[in-house]
Amino acid sequence: MGKRGRELVGPKVDELIADLQSAYADEWIAFYYYKLAAELAEGINSQIVAEKFDKIAAEELEHAEELAERITQLGGEPVRDFEKIVSTAGCKKVKLPKNNKDYKGFLKAGIEAEQCAIAAYEKILDKLKTDIKDPITFHVIRHIMQEEVEHEDEFEGLLD
Ligand SMILES: [Fe+2]
Ligand SMILES: [Fe+2]
Repeated sequence: MGKRGRELVGPKVDELIADLQSAYADEWIAFYYYKLAAELAEGINSQIVAEKFDKIAAEELEHAEELAERITQLGGEPVRDFEKIVSTAGCKKVKLPKNNKDYKGFLKAGIEAEQCAIAAYEKILDKLKTDIKDPITFHVIRHIMQEEVEHEDEFEGLLD
């Protein structure tokens, strides 16, 4: 990224990049397990559950792309080794049910993952409101967080 663009963020730019890398890894993990859930779900309601996981997985991948773009702009790099994705992530796993017919179990796993993501983005937003002044990253994170809130709601809506 340009020098002035980095200066804009201030002395904590590296801390911010590390937080964004962690969120980037979270998004890949969510994408992976959501696609898996879409494949594994069977039985009653499986089609509607699979479609929901597929649709949300695509949005998690978009989040990963948005984060990668911002990390790069700040002078960092997205996680280079895929084997480091889990150790870098804050939300390390989506706990899918053992029984593929347990559609509620899939939805609950999705809800838990979304709640983990919401908490992670809330932490980053708090920093961006207090000691790291970066309106551009704030905008990116606020937008992603809004979609995570919608995801939680979408999964919850299918539980009833
Ligand atoms: Fe996401
Ligand atoms: Fe999400």
